Amino acid sequence: MEVYKGKAKSVIEGDGDTYVMEFRNDLTAGDGAKKASKEGKGALNAEISAKFFEVLIDAGIDTHFIRFEPPTKHIVKRVKIIPLEVICRNIATGSILKRYPFTQGQKFNPPLVEMGYKDDAYHDPFLNDAVALALGAARDVAELDKLREITLKVNSILSKFLLEKGITLVDFKLEFGRDKDGNLLLADEVTPDTCRFWDVETGEIMDKDRFRQDLGDVREFYREVKRRIGA
Ligand SMILES: Nc1ncnc2c1ncn2[C@@H]1O[C@H](COP(=O)(O)OP(=O)(O)OP(=O)(O)O)[C@@H](O)[C@H]1O
Ligand SMILES: [Mg+2]
Repeated sequence: MEVYKGKAKSVIEGDGDTYVMEFRNDLTAGDGAKKASKEGKGALNAEISAKFFEVLIDAGIDTHFIRFEPPTKHIVKRVKIIPLEVICRNIATGSILKRYPFTQGQKFNPPLVEMGYKDDAYHDPFLNDAVALALGAARDVAELDKLREITLKVNSILSKFLLEKGITLVDFKLEFGRDKDGNLLLADEVTPDTCRFWDVETGEIMDKDRFRQDLGDVREFYREVKRRIGA
């Protein structure tokens, strides 16, 4: 039984405490204002995300990922999603340039971590700790600190892994949840839909910005990310 149909994935009831997360071919941008379907995109993202979750698990991150069922499914632990999007930026690009006087390509050292309230109706607005707590999105500041700490750890692990493959991790968005025992787990996906990847040598865009900006060859670049990371 389908529990939820999102913009890019479907969540289906699985055995026991699991869900089956199916990666679809749908691509959206601008809160779903721009839509397309790209044959094979779901399978590419499922493979890419599975690889990243394996790398993160090996490095000691607790996640919802149980196994990949090719071509498009992940078997995951059921969690209650924390309604926050945790965003980490190593380089200034995209929406942040409209909010602050940063310059395109400027490096952030240390990386910037921001949080948004996960609600499309409000366009996932950025919030501070006080607002997050008032909304009941997190239990306390310690929990928010924990989310930021894990996100920075994910950033170091993936930045290093990707650099060896000739890819710069520019920025990314994470989602977290709690399982039935209250364990905080990294959930959802890590894909070119939710990260920005630039070729180290050429600066070429290898992520969903190709779709947002109509640069073309979306699938070809997702395939290249998959090839380089060995997924
Ligand atoms: N382990 C999990 N248990 C329960 N829900 C999960 C889990 N992992 C991811 N999800 C949720 O499954 C959905 C995946 O669908 P998708 O990414 O297409 O949603 P979306 O369109 O981005 O919308 P939204 O994230 O706002 O619900 C998301 O709502 C995500 O929060
Ligand atoms: Mg999503």
